[in-house]
Amino acid sequence: MNVRQRVGLKFKDEIAFLKGWKRNRTAVGAITPTSAVTARKMASVIHPGSGLPVLELGPGTGVITKAILRRGVDPQNLTSIEYSPEFCQHLRAQFPDVDFRCGDAFALDLVLGSKRRAKFDCVISAIPLLHLPIERRLALVLDLLERVPVGRPVVQITYGLLSPVVALPAGYEIRHLAFMMRNIPPAQLWIYRKVR
Ligand SMILES: C[S@@+](CC[C@H](N)C(=O)[O-])C[C@H]1O[C@@H](n2cnc3c(N)ncnc32)[C@H](O)[C@@H]1O
Repeated sequence: MNVRQRVGLKFKDEIAFLKGWKRNRTAVGAITPTSAVTARKMASVIHPGSGLPVLELGPGTGVITKAILRRGVDPQNLTSIEYSPEFCQHLRAQFPDVDFRCGDAFALDLVLGSKRRAKFDCVISAIPLLHLPIERRLALVLDLLERVPVGRPVVQITYGLLSPVVALPAGYEIRHLAFMMRNIPPAQLWIYRKVR
């Protein structure tokens, strides 16, 4: 393999990301892929021994997908929803055993089809929320919380200072997981969960 090919491979994710970003900046919502350290932090909430599948939203180039699998999740136990057909194609080639669904995370019942009644161990989400009205953000988080057991987390990455959802109805809690400096741009990780 020559230097050009090696450099091409090293930056393959960044190139795919930039192409996606050029096409749809609002939906991609970031300027570079999530860093590996941020992806690992998000995946750290998973209980690989729970026996339940994991739901990922907005995998993009697959950095977080890789961290989820490295956490010990069986690829067949990961369902991942991505809006962009180009990213979906790239992801299916990279992780052939993961169940990638090309569709809208805001229409989860439709996208999940026969898995719509499944309970997931947790949800790992990189869906950009800040450009959306607060009611849509809240509707998504509440929908996701219905898909995980009480006490299990929905993890959301965001580039704003505050949680994209600042008030939930009683019975849910919001917790700050981490501020990730080693991410471009620096990111906040938030956890939402039902407490009863
Ligand atoms: C910030 S990027 C994720 C970056 C990813 N962690 C990476 O490192 O490549 C957000 C991703 O969410 C996807 N996305 C945005 N809105 C979506 C939606 N409503 N449903 C599913 N995917 C969506 C975008 O296409 C993009 O791939």
